[in-house]
Amino acid sequence: MFFIFAIVVVVSGLYVFYHWIEPILRESLNAPNDAQAAEDSLIKIPKLILWSLLAFLGVRALSTLIFDLLFRFRRGYEAPALVRNIFSMVVFTVLFVLIFNRIYDKVDLGAVFTTSAIFGVIIGLALQDTLGNFFAGISLHADRPFQVGDVIVVGQQKHTGVIESINWRAIKIRTFQNHIVLVSNSNAAKEAIEVAPRDNLNARLVFFGTLYTDSPAKTIHVVREAVRDADNVSEKITPIVRIRNLGDSSIEWEVKYWLDDYAKYNDTDALVRQRIWYALRRSGLTFAFPTRTLHLERKAITRPVTAEEQIADRLSAVDVFAPLSSEELRQLATATVGHVFAPGETLIRAGDEGSSMFVVHNGRVAVQVADKGGPRTVAVLSEGNFFGEMALFTGEPRTANVVALEETEVLEIGHAAMKHIFETNPSLAESISWTIAERQAALEAGSAQASQNSIQEPAGLLASIRRFFSLR
Ligand code: CMP
Repeated sequence: MFFIFAIVVVVSGLYVFYHWIEPILRESLNAPNDAQAAEDSLIKIPKLILWSLLAFLGVRALSTLIFDLLFRFRRGYEAPALVRNIFSMVVFTVLFVLIFNRIYDKVDLGAVFTTSAIFGVIIGLALQDTLGNFFAGISLHADRPFQVGDVIVVGQQKHTGVIESINWRAIKIRTFQNHIVLVSNSNAAKEAIEVAPRDNLNARLVFFGTLYTDSPAKTIHVVREAVRDADNVSEKITPIVRIRNLGDSSIEWEVKYWLDDYAKYNDTDALVRQRIWYALRRSGLTFAFPTRTLHLERKAITRPVTAEEQIADRLSAVDVFAPLSSEELRQLATATVGHVFAPGETLIRAGDEGSSMFVVHNGRVAVQVADKGGPRTVAVLSEGNFFGEMALFTGEPRTANVVALEETEVLEIGHAAMKHIFETNPSLAESISWTIAERQAALEAGSAQASQNSIQEPAGLLASIRRFFSLR
């Protein structure tokens, strides 16, 4: 729109100049013959300016048409700024030379440039760096080693960031501290550049160490499963966990994983380390640091997450366990196993088999069911709430996903411990069957999938719990 308006203004300017201003100027100057040439060149200056302006606008309009519209339409991506600039410069120079020759037909532009050696030297020296950048930019573009959006490491200072633009002078990088770094094309062309292309599966390595007493096979399994579940870790390639060295005080490991979005590798590395920590902790595996003694580390393996009395206290606050005596609570506490989960980790997956229930000791979890638009939370459970009882007591698959909302510590109670409790407290099965019936009803009301699950009356549930636990 702006171009059309500007072109109209310049064309009107030319019209006005040729029809009104030029005759007036000629008349008013009306020089004698010998001054005729001087007068001519004076009148030609505004003409040259106006025609050049028109040429400039025309080139801009043409470049917009070709690169913004056609290029994007035909190739699906925007033309590089460098290509646009070169195109505009070449076309404008050609047009300018044509216009100049037309207006000053007696002046030989070629001769002016070729004969003026001093002029050439001055221009050459002044533009040395600029031209260097320009040609380096062209050669970089010809190779197309990187494009906007790629992560690169460049320069002696190892500038790392996401490429924001590439023009005829420099590459503009946004670093992970949100700073802008400009690396001139000529410098970039001289240096080794490390590129992580945007549309490529780029990998990262994360290191950790475990005790020599920990089983490598178990470590590989536990860490791989924990890492593949983390956000931004690509599902296309399974992470690789391998021993990189048998060090002085530890088995040294590396985890190689691939990222969906490489530009977020700092966050993902951190998340992966966090997941490894939690996974090792849950599986009784131990990080090795030279500053820790082996004795201290082994203690951590055998000791439950929290003390027995604390667990008994927590269990006594769970409503369905209210009828239990202190001795029964203590027995139950000894039978529980503590686990810690990171925020976002899945504790229970819908459809899995399950033979234990959990009590939230610290933190919060969300009970989620699959919905059309993704997972939908049907309940949030916090300290003293329990979950996982449906599969444990009915023998059916897990009915929902349970995901940690924050760092969460849970107490796991297995089938054997519950059977023992049921035998001494027959009323417990009844109160649990009420909870299950309520939760089934809530699931049915909220989930698209739930209608496929069997819903039972509390009485029916009670009978099946009794059958399942072989109670009388
Ligand atoms: P389970 O089916 O073993 O595994 C998923 C668990 O989510 C389930 O047991 C219940 O403990 C819990 N759950 C399912 N629905 C609800 C609900 N509506 N409110 C609270 N917890 C629920």
